[in-house]
Amino acid sequence: MRTCLAIVLAAGEGTRMRSSRPKVLHEVAGRSLLGHVLTAAGNSAIAVVLGPEHDDVSAEARLFAPESRLFVQAQRRGTAHAVLAARAAIETGPDDLLVIFGDTPLIRPQTLERLRSAIGSGAAVAVLGFKPADPTGYGRLVTRGDELLSIVEHADATDQERAIALCNGGLMVFDGKVALSILERIGNANSKGEFYLTDAVKIARDMKRKTVALEVTEDEVSGINTKAQLAGAEATMQQRLRQAALDAGVTLVAPETVHLSADTRLGRDVTVEPYVVFGPGVTVEEGATVRSFSHLAGAHVGRNAIVGPYARLRPGAKLEEGVHIGNFVEVKEATIEAGAKANHLAYIGDARVGAGANIGAGTITCNYDGAAKHRTDIGKGAFIGSNSALVAPVKIGDGAYVGSGSVITKDVPADALALERSPQTIKEGWAKRLRELKALVKK
Ligand code: UD1
Ligand code: MG
Repeated sequence: MRTCLAIVLAAGEGTRMRSSRPKVLHEVAGRSLLGHVLTAAGNSAIAVVLGPEHDDVSAEARLFAPESRLFVQAQRRGTAHAVLAARAAIETGPDDLLVIFGDTPLIRPQTLERLRSAIGSGAAVAVLGFKPADPTGYGRLVTRGDELLSIVEHADATDQERAIALCNGGLMVFDGKVALSILERIGNANSKGEFYLTDAVKIARDMKRKTVALEVTEDEVSGINTKAQLAGAEATMQQRLRQAALDAGVTLVAPETVHLSADTRLGRDVTVEPYVVFGPGVTVEEGATVRSFSHLAGAHVGRNAIVGPYARLRPGAKLEEGVHIGNFVEVKEATIEAGAKANHLAYIGDARVGAGANIGAGTITCNYDGAAKHRTDIGKGAFIGSNSALVAPVKIGDGAYVGSGSVITKDVPADALALERSPQTIKEGWAKRLRELKALVKK
């Protein structure tokens, strides 16, 4: 197996995003642009080149690629200059040296492999080309047959060169043995006075080495510079994720209305009804149904469970097999054990609900006292009557009953009934007398 070092250029300018957030930290399908790129490059050793103010970007790099080496390019002096900021990593002598821009979230691992295979078959530099609808601003690939002769940056191109449709996608791979000697020869005698990575092609040819271009579709290499492009990438990513779910045996009744995250895991025979949002960190096991208008994030849904319509599962919600969570029920940081049900209008937070327990409509776990969070523990087979408030910390024993409308502040033993409500008063004939009185007044 050939070794590979991927250098990810993540110097965040992002001014055209009109945002205080670095460009590469914007998200597509619940994952940062940088996170997508680092995931795609997952089979390689990774070096990330950051701009001078980089704390949050380096934290993100560490999150997705804990083993990566981080380098800082103190001044923006061009793409080749940025790559050389990672010189110490290049000097470790990988077989292949990949260069990826941190703002191209749609790049696929297969494409990186394809590009690398060109180096395996003898090229010194291989470049991804694409034919954009509007080529303005891109470097043009000057080719002869299969050969790539040079790349000319838009700013430096003649009218004849600007007529070339095939453009530089920005992704490149070098033969690791000659990468450094090529990079060191790149100068900055061009209209911008920058060290252009693209000059590597010409230099490799002067060294009598082969250079090639591989064509891919625009969506894979399009870099994100604006919020509109970010939204476009989101749409493309959603289509890919939905297709992958359908291919894996998930039923999406109306795929175009389901929003997925890059890490959403849906088992076989899961059914997702129209208009469901999966935020990051959701796993749904085989046979479960997620009904319309539900919102899930950081949650686990067990086999054959039913969620929604209109359910909200927040981080730490764990539903075991066969659980039912119905409309307007919110679950946070709580384990709902097998077969338990909360079918209507409830809040279950910081809790355990035992197997087979039934949570009545309007039940609230009062988990927060204004300063700290406390836990509620509900035993297996317990029955919580409608409109009860369980004031945590509190324990309801196995098989216990809580009468409707109770405010429970003390633990309830197993199999007991807890009732916290004023006794009901009956006044016989009272309503009839009232009506008669009113009728008298009217006359
Ligand atoms: C670059 C390519 C161009 C290609 C286009 C594709 C060069 C010289 N040109 O142009 O051929 O068609 O991408 O999108 O490579 N960066 C740094 N430090 C620098 C300069 C850039 O880290 O000093 C990073 C940027 O953050 C970005 C990437 O390198 O991630 C590309 O830089 P950018 O300025 O966007 O290059 P383009 O002009 O778009
Ligand atoms: Mg660019």
